[in-house]
Amino acid sequence: MKWMKHDKLERNSLLLSGFIIVTVLIGGIVEIVPLFRQETVIEPVEGVRPYTPLELAGYNIYVREGCYNCHSQQIRPLRDEVVRYGHYSLAAESMYDHPFQWGSKRTGPDLARVGGKYSDEWQVAHLKEPRDLVPESIMPSYEFLLHRAAKLHDIHNHMKSLAAVGVPYGEEHIKMARKDATAQAIGEARTDTSGLQERYGDNVNARDFDGNPSMISEMDALVAYLQVLGTMVDFEAAKNVEGNE
Ligand code: HEC
Repeated sequence: MKWMKHDKLERNSLLLSGFIIVTVLIGGIVEIVPLFRQETVIEPVEGVRPYTPLELAGYNIYVREGCYNCHSQQIRPLRDEVVRYGHYSLAAESMYDHPFQWGSKRTGPDLARVGGKYSDEWQVAHLKEPRDLVPESIMPSYEFLLHRAAKLHDIHNHMKSLAAVGVPYGEEHIKMARKDATAQAIGEARTDTSGLQERYGDNVNARDFDGNPSMISEMDALVAYLQVLGTMVDFEAAKNVEGNE
């Protein structure tokens, strides 16, 4: 009879363990293997683009200074979060972050949509001395960023390595990296930014972020990065598309 075979399995713990392992392995493989193919996991969303070279330099400063120890970049789809920070984060919004900056701790607020929330002047003054603007703040002062030149001479190499893991930087992006970074920090008002906009879109913020036009500082790069966070996807436009709320 059929059940007799199962009886054998149930009475032999080693045999049963062997079968359990095989079954769990098959289940695990079926679940995990598709996730290795990023394009099957993340739905592309219009507007999401790779960082400009200047923003990427800012991202590097964000990582170097460990801002992620106190700030998350991940708005969860919970009412209180959405009311406070804005639309919940989409996977596509961090698809070009290697490594992603979701973070795991919020000593300070979430920064996923901080772009455009404050003026450049506010960001610079706050980073310089947080307590000037928020007296009870425990955030460290980052004034030194104003006096250090942004590291742009090798940013094209970083872009090359990102391209190797799937970030869509082309040859042109990599070749023009330094020029694009300079154009973005000098700004639309004072230089030709058409190449930058051609490569990264018309909405790129191109201006002198730190208020000191004589140097492209780490402050310029970090503020350029902060000001683009969460601004790539136009949620207002998406709302008007039928079928969306
Ligand atoms: C020790 C923890 C800590 C670290 C490290 C830290 N911050 Fe903060 N940050 C805070 C706290 C607390 C606040 C809320 C009070 C304030 O606005 O200063 C804050 C606020 C902010 C805000 C304002 C957010 C908003 O929506 O009002 C920004 C922007 C910000 N931090 C950026 C940064 C950046 C960039 C770095 C890294 C260079 C950084 N922080 C490092 C704790 C930290």
